[in-house]
Amino acid sequence: MIVLGIETSCDETGVALYCTERGLLAQALHSQVAMHERYGGVVPELASRDHVRRLLPLTAQILDEAGLPIDGVDAIAYTEGPGLAGALLVGASVAASIAAALDKPAIGIHHLEGHLLSPLLSADPPAFPFVALLVSGGHTQLMRVDGVGRYALLGDTLDDAAGEAFDKSAKLLGLGYPGGPAVAALAERGRPGACALPRPMLHSGDLDFSFSGLKTAVLTAVRRGLPDEQARADLALELQSAIVDVLVAKSVAALQATGLERLVIAGGVSANRRLRARLDSAQQAHGFRVHFPEAALCTDNGAMIAFAGALRLAAGPMPEPPTGFGVRPRWPLDELSAPTG
Ligand code: KG4
Ligand code: ZN
Repeated sequence: MIVLGIETSCDETGVALYCTERGLLAQALHSQVAMHERYGGVVPELASRDHVRRLLPLTAQILDEAGLPIDGVDAIAYTEGPGLAGALLVGASVAASIAAALDKPAIGIHHLEGHLLSPLLSADPPAFPFVALLVSGGHTQLMRVDGVGRYALLGDTLDDAAGEAFDKSAKLLGLGYPGGPAVAALAERGRPGACALPRPMLHSGDLDFSFSGLKTAVLTAVRRGLPDEQARADLALELQSAIVDVLVAKSVAALQATGLERLVIAGGVSANRRLRARLDSAQQAHGFRVHFPEAALCTDNGAMIAFAGALRLAAGPMPEPPTGFGVRPRWPLDELSAPTG
């Protein structure tokens, strides 16, 4: 079965062709970062319009690369939510239209499920069950994953997500958007221990997070005055260390609480090199295995949507071709259920 995956939940247009027998056949991505940069963040209306411009040419491009005619696609998977309503509608309407024209099924995929399952696309995929740390722009969650659609929430952020803490602090530091990579780059030149930020909820005894206080602490430091580039780099390093310390400690606590031995990290923040290095050392110290998606699959992409769609379609009866479409801009991950075959 060959599934066309379409991702348009935010500021990246991603498409991919995934074959259940041969794996990933082709994928393409257009990032809107350059377009939104001057506004300091994503402008939803511009995002939607750009998805309209990019989606069909990118789809034609990957079909061409795979040497596949459009009717060689067996089903279409698209991101149904969560995300920006207008942006999601572009992907959903194109997916439903192509599916209806081809008389093939379309399946709506939860964006975070795409992230969560993306490490299964790697050469050394984790077996179920595992603990997943989902760290995207809007979510910081620990989940227990027993299979496709079998997710139990272990811990969540009470306010800002880790990605948001990176993004908002980057803005305060006068860095570009998206903030995570910009803070990480500046942190390279920081001196460890040159300044101190809190580690929110590190000892709270549960698996929840809170990152809004960090952003406030960065704001206070910025208002007090950062004399030079070195001071900004020191603060960036301390911010990254504070976020990474909390993420690593809570992930280890989640493994201990569940008794599981595999940890999967997914979502944009999982691209952070410091986080990867710290988890690498933690797995040796605590005797668990950590699985990351390939670097290119950490941030938003069409491959994870095609893959999640293929897993769900393979596990249940083929749905009928669509007669309409809808999106779910707000959609808690633990509302998903396992495919019933
Ligand atoms: O999963 P994603 O691409 O989009 C959402 O679904 O939200 O995650 C985007 C988030 C942003 O907050 C971005 O700043 C962060 O991932 N991010 C990083 C890095 N690369 C992306 N944060 C820290 N270090 C990075 N290298
Ligand atoms: Zn994402």
